[in-house]
Amino acid sequence: NDSQLDAGSINEIKPGKMKRVDADNGKRILICHLEDGFYAVDDMCTHEDASLYLGCLHGDRVHCSLHGGEFNVKTGEAMVEPAEIPLQTYPVSIEDGRILVKV
Ligand code: FES
Repeated sequence: NDSQLDAGSINEIKPGKMKRVDADNGKRILICHLEDGFYAVDDMCTHEDASLYLGCLHGDRVHCSLHGGEFNVKTGEAMVEPAEIPLQTYPVSIEDGRILVKV
C-alpha cells in the first residue's frame, strides 16, 4: 500500500537544495528542489551505503560524496560510475504548500 509522506513546507527547501526525510517504512527519502519543481528519490546511494544528502546537487543530478557516482533525480538513472543501478524515484505532489511524497 502506498502511503503519503508529508515532507514539509515548500519554503523549507531553497531552489538547488535538498532535504532528507524519514518515511514510516524506515526508508530515507531525499527531496530535491530543482528549477521546475520538487523531486523525490531514495537517499541511499545504490552503489554502497552512503547518504546522497551528504553529497551535492548540480542541476538535476545528485553527486555522491563517497565515490563520486551521480544520478539524475528526475528519472533515477545512474549517470556517472561507479553508480550503475538506478535510484528509486517517488511521485511528488504539492498541496497547500506542503510537499507530499507517495512512498
Ligand atoms: Fe555512492 Fe559509491 S556509495 S558512489
